[in-house]
Amino acid sequence: MCGIFGIITSQEQTLGPILIEAAKRLAYRGYDSVGSATVWASGQIDLRKDVGRIQDVSTRLRFAEMRGSRGITQLRWATFGAPSQPNAQPHLDSDGDMVGAHNGNVVNNVQLRELFLREGLIVRGTNDGETCVHAVERHFDHNGGDMLAAIRSAYTDLEGDYAFVITHRDEHKLYAIKKGSGLVGGLGDGFTCLSSDLPSILPLTRRIIRIRDGEIVTLAPDRIELFNVADGAPITRDEERYEGPIEVAEKGGYPHFMLKEIHEQPTVANELLHLLDSTPHLARFVEALRATGDRPVYLVGSGTSYHACLLGAYYFNRVAGCSAVPCLGPQFIEQYANSVGPQDTAVFVSQSGETKDILNALKVMRQKGGRVLSVLNVLGSSLAHASDVYLPLACGYEISVPATKTFVNQCVLFLYLAFRLAGRKTDELSALPRLLAEAVEVTDAPSRKVVEYLVNWNALHYLGYGMTHPIALEAALKLKEITYAHCEGMFSSEFKHGPLAAVHDGYPVLFFTLAGDEAMMINHINEVTTRGGRAIAVAAEHPILRKNVHDYLPVPASDPLLAPIVLTIPAQLVAYHMSVARGIDPDFPRNLSKTLTVD
Ligand code: M6R
Repeated sequence: MCGIFGIITSQEQTLGPILIEAAKRLAYRGYDSVGSATVWASGQIDLRKDVGRIQDVSTRLRFAEMRGSRGITQLRWATFGAPSQPNAQPHLDSDGDMVGAHNGNVVNNVQLRELFLREGLIVRGTNDGETCVHAVERHFDHNGGDMLAAIRSAYTDLEGDYAFVITHRDEHKLYAIKKGSGLVGGLGDGFTCLSSDLPSILPLTRRIIRIRDGEIVTLAPDRIELFNVADGAPITRDEERYEGPIEVAEKGGYPHFMLKEIHEQPTVANELLHLLDSTPHLARFVEALRATGDRPVYLVGSGTSYHACLLGAYYFNRVAGCSAVPCLGPQFIEQYANSVGPQDTAVFVSQSGETKDILNALKVMRQKGGRVLSVLNVLGSSLAHASDVYLPLACGYEISVPATKTFVNQCVLFLYLAFRLAGRKTDELSALPRLLAEAVEVTDAPSRKVVEYLVNWNALHYLGYGMTHPIALEAALKLKEITYAHCEGMFSSEFKHGPLAAVHDGYPVLFFTLAGDEAMMINHINEVTTRGGRAIAVAAEHPILRKNVHDYLPVPASDPLLAPIVLTIPAQLVAYHMSVARGIDPDFPRNLSKTLTVD
C-alpha cells in the first residue's frame, strides 16, 4: 500500500520540508522506499529517491533543500519489483519531461513494460508506478501534447486498481487519476494538494475535495478541477470541511486499525487474485512445487501463518491431490531436518518475513540443499532475500498486531496455488472478494450479539471439522491474543477425548461448520449441549443445525472450498468486539509485538 502526495503553489519556494512532513504522515501505511520530485518555476525537475526510512533517505539526499512550485512525494511498499533505487518513486518518462508516482497495482505491468521497450521508451526499473508514467508519455505526442487526453488514453491501457499523480515540466499543473485506490484533494491559501489519504493533507488544510473512481483531477495553485475519464466531461463537486482528529483519519474512520484491516480484506483478496493472474513469479513457484514430485511439500509458518499452512495442506490435498506437511519452524528442524534433501521443497510463510523461527528453519533447508519458496507481505524482508522465489501477499502494511488481512490472503494464495497445481481455472475463485465483503457486512451485528454472552467467560472452546479445524485454531488464537481469555481450538471429533470434561452449565463452545458437515457437527454439538454447555454455530444458514444450537452466527453461503476463508471474518469480528468490550486495545495487546525476531 504505497502513498502519494502532490502539491502545487503559486510561487516557487522551498517545498522539501512540506514533502518530508507529508511522507511522515503517510508512513503509517508502510513503505520500503521514499522519493520526492520538485519542479522549479523554470521547468527543471529535481528528483531524489532511494530505499530506506524517511529520516535516513531525506537527510542523506537533502530533501529539505528541494525547491519548486510543484512537488510530489511517494512512499513505496513493494509488491512486484524489488525495493531498489530505480524502483523507488517518483519516476521520469523517457526524456525526463514528465515526473509521476502511483499508489496501487497495475496488474498488466509486465506486458506493458515489454510493449514500452519494443516501442523504444526508456524504462529504468520494473515497478508499475513507472508504467503509469510511460503509459501517459506514449499517448502524449499523439494527443497533441494534451495531458488530459493522454491520461484518458493511458487509463484504457492500465489494468488494475491504482491512483497516480503526474506533471509535465512545461505546464504549471498537477494531474491525477483515481481508479480503485484512495485519492483526496485539499484546497489551501495559494496552493492545492492531493494525497492517497487525509492525514497528510490535514496539517495543511481542512478544506477537502473527495475524488471518486473514474475521475481525473487537475490541480492549479488556486483551484481543483475534476473530469470524467470516460468522456472527458467536467464534473462539479463542492468542497467539504473535515473537522475530525488526524488520528481518526489515519484509521480510515474506524476506531482501530484491526477493524480497518478486517474491512480491507475483500479489496486485498481481489487485488491478490489479479496480481497472481499476471505475475511471472507464479509459474516459477508452481514449477518448483511440481518438481517435488510425489514427496510432500513442507508448509512452514508460525502463529497465524501456521494456521494458513494448515488450511493450505487441506487445499493441496483436496484440490490437487498433493500431499503437504504443515509445520512450525522449530518443528520442521526437530522433526524433518534429517529426512529432507535436494529433492524436497518447503514453502516458508511469514507476513513480516522476519520471524526468527522461520528463518532458522529456512537455514536448515538451505543446508540440506532443498528448494526454498516463500510467501510474505514485506518484500524487502530477510525471507524475501533468502528465498529462491517468493510470492507477495499484496496486503499493504498491516499495523494491528493481530494478523487479519494477511491471514486471509495467505489462505487465498494457497487455494489459488492448489487450483494451479490441479490445472483448474482460477476464475472459479472470483466470487471470493464479494463473499468476504458480504461476510463483513452481515456478520458484524450477530458477532456483537454473541460477544454479549462470551464476554464474561474466561475459558471457552472453538471447534472445527476438516477444513474448519485451521479456522477454529486461528479464531482461538485471535481471541486469546486480544481478549486475554483462554480459548482452545480443536478438531471437533477430538473434544470427547478429554476436553469434554470442561463443559458445565453455560460453558460456551463455538462450532465452525462447513456445508456438508452439519450432520457430523450435530453429533459433536449434542455431546456439549446434553452436558449443559452452550453451543454456538458459525455456519451458513441450515435449519436443522439451527435447531440444535443455542445461538447461530450465520455467514453467506458459499462453495465449501471458499467457506473456510469466509468463516474467518466472524471469527475476527467476535475477537475484535470482545476485546473492545473488555476495554483492551486490540491493535496493541500486552506482551506482544508485530514482528518476532527472537528464538
Ligand atoms: O510475521 P509472521 O507471519 O511470521 O508472524 C507469525 C506470528 O508471530 C503471527 O502470525 C502472530 O501469531 C499474530 N500476531 C497472530 O495474530
